[in-house]
Amino acid sequence: MRLIFLGDVVGRSGREAVAQHLPGLRSRYRPDLVVVNGENAAHGFGITEEIFQGLLAAGADVVTLGNHAFDQREALIFIERYPNLLRPLNWPQGCPGRGVALVETATGKRVLVMQAMGRVMIEPMLDDPFAAVSRELDACPLSQACDAVLIDFHAEASSEKMAFGHFCDGRASLVVGTHTHVPTADHQILPGGTAYLTDAGMCGDYNSVIGMDKTEPLQRFLRKLPVERMRPAEGEATLCGVAVETDDQTGKAVLVAPLRLGGRLDEARIAAWENGFA
Ligand code: FE2
Repeated sequence: MRLIFLGDVVGRSGREAVAQHLPGLRSRYRPDLVVVNGENAAHGFGITEEIFQGLLAAGADVVTLGNHAFDQREALIFIERYPNLLRPLNWPQGCPGRGVALVETATGKRVLVMQAMGRVMIEPMLDDPFAAVSRELDACPLSQACDAVLIDFHAEASSEKMAFGHFCDGRASLVVGTHTHVPTADHQILPGGTAYLTDAGMCGDYNSVIGMDKTEPLQRFLRKLPVERMRPAEGEATLCGVAVETDDQTGKAVLVAPLRLGGRLDEARIAAWENGFA
């Protein structure tokens, strides 16, 4: 099975990159499932229902969120209506929405998709993500109750992300980090068969400070005084993500590769999936 995950969509330029590139990626690579992190899609902070619908229209099957899940207050309401819109599953009880979904693909395959949030250098401090994810993995074991497992681990610390990847190794098809908005080069298949990447990077303008127009962040570092609201940078975005191919019997990864298109970063296509294309 082919899985594509795209990192945090930041503001309008990120949304435009998804709208521009994702339909072509779908027809070119024929992924069974596309998951997109949309927690910064609404001007950098949260997501609206209209923007969520736009990501689906561009080709996302599932949208994940993160610490900014509810920055747009309407998300507290509309998240209840969409089983394919996921906030971190370790949010304490009583939080609207859900953090896990068993998605059926067009070809009848079942993919368990979930998101958890780390607890190192990130707010709010949620419940233990290791215990929360472990419960879900035990309830829906890979290759028995589902054909693939994709986990978006939304966290700041690379140490916590790597530990989390190893914790899930052998029980998930892909553990991909989000939130730091900078793509890492450590994509690998862990010894137990789980594809892992510390951070997918963002779908956003890299002439920025993690997607935000650089003027205000710089001035906050230099003068320690906020002057205006942060706003997303508006240049052409680089679409950043990761592609994974799984074994149909075991659900484990047989290929993991970075994906980058457009904007300022070097392009990365999925060479193994380019067969047959000029
Ligand atoms: Fe985040």
